[in-house]
Amino acid sequence: MDIAIKNIGEATCACDVLILPVIKNNIRVYDYLGTSFRRLIKKSILREFIADPNALQLLAAPDDIGSEWILLTGIGRKNEITADTVRQAGGKVAEYLKDKGLKRTALSTRVISSLSISPAIFVEGILLGVYRFDRYKTEQQEKHIDSITILARMTKRLQSALSWAKAAASSVNFARDLVNTPSNDMTPSDLAEAARTLRQKNLSITVLDREDARKLGMGAYLSVARGSTAPPKFIILRYKGAKGAPLVLVGKSITFDSGGISLKPSHGMEKMKYDMAGGAAVLGVMKAVAEMKLPVHVIGLLPATENLPGSAASKPGDIVRSVGGKTIEVVNTDAEGRLVLADAIEYAKRFKPRAIIDIATLTGACSIALGNEAIAMMGNDRRLLNRMKRSSEHTNERVWEMPLFEEYHEYLKSDIADLNNLGGKNGALVTSAYFLYVFAGSVPWVHLDIAGTGWIEKERPYLPKGASGAGVRLLIDFVREMR
Ligand code: BES
Ligand code: MN
Ligand code: ZN
Repeated sequence: MDIAIKNIGEATCACDVLILPVIKNNIRVYDYLGTSFRRLIKKSILREFIADPNALQLLAAPDDIGSEWILLTGIGRKNEITADTVRQAGGKVAEYLKDKGLKRTALSTRVISSLSISPAIFVEGILLGVYRFDRYKTEQQEKHIDSITILARMTKRLQSALSWAKAAASSVNFARDLVNTPSNDMTPSDLAEAARTLRQKNLSITVLDREDARKLGMGAYLSVARGSTAPPKFIILRYKGAKGAPLVLVGKSITFDSGGISLKPSHGMEKMKYDMAGGAAVLGVMKAVAEMKLPVHVIGLLPATENLPGSAASKPGDIVRSVGGKTIEVVNTDAEGRLVLADAIEYAKRFKPRAIIDIATLTGACSIALGNEAIAMMGNDRRLLNRMKRSSEHTNERVWEMPLFEEYHEYLKSDIADLNNLGGKNGALVTSAYFLYVFAGSVPWVHLDIAGTGWIEKERPYLPKGASGAGVRLLIDFVREMR
């Protein structure tokens, strides 16, 4: 997609469709477009249209306007408009235009700018909204948006907001592609290949195989990999744009979660290809951070494996030993996420990190508690948690903090090992996090459970159905503010 900034008037722009954002009852700001435009508005049903946010009306443009078509885009009542409603309007426009064959679009910015919102946010909504996953369709949709011309004066501020929007959206879409790809084409090895495509100046990739992990003592991680013939890959990315202690991002990367011997019911099991959404998010963040050349030091860890019930699989009751030496009784092989994350979090400590953030589709209980509306957040460091909340507000990727009461430790006691990997039915969201807390110890750490937000059953304005890319924009913002 070509994106250009041009300081020309709306009427003179030669394009296929001119996008005009409209505040409720405020179409008259566009009066200057001329009498034929005013007449057009008067004749149509637009007075009602203007009431609704995200309402769209496509009109054939009058002859004295350079564009072929005009797309009026409702953005709601003035006092109810936020950065995110503008992003959503961009998403709606994308969804509407993506199969219309109107390739060259232009965006009028005066209304959005008058609200002190960057037009880059609207563009971000478009870039997120045009996403589609059609790699496996033998007949692909050929119509798509080719270009967006932003009608505005070029400023440093707009340019930098725009480069952030582009990097963020392309990273979200990159992560979505990885997550939507079915597990037969997204094995741990495929995920490692995807990571390798990100290699560039300041960003290096190392992949540990089963033998490397064994030497490191990653018994918890490897116990999950036993049931599959697909070799596990522990993927390490290091972006060094600054000196000093790194921030380590850990992403759960189960490329398919069948539950193992504690097999899941078949209904809905096909969705468990998205159990690597945490890892995909980390890759997305690394991509954006490197593209924007941020002056930060970030390490990404993706403990990738399948969780299958092959004949060598771990069995309920098996006891495994993690990197740091702690023993874990695997009471349920379907609680595999915390096993791979325990080893990755312990391993992260080698880098003497200033903080560890893990992101994971960890529990079904996360969706039970919060639905698809928020990422569940838990952690051991108030400052870090507050920073994450701030990034949540910047990006409108909602996080909701849940507690880590000391009493939850009891839920995870085993009679014969240090820990039990099953906390019981009650409090499953928080006890899974508490399990990770035992491994994070005193290192500043935040856990993000994206089980509810990582996959969307019903599309939203800039979230097409399927993989959402949850956490990518949130964490890019977090990393950027970390400096
Ligand atoms: N990957 C699942 C969690 C999950 C479920 C994510 C549904 C997205 C949608 C995880 O590995 C899992 O199976 N968790 C179990 C834990 C239980 C056995 C303690 C769960 O939540 O049921
Ligand atoms: Mn599981
Ligand atoms: Zn899982």
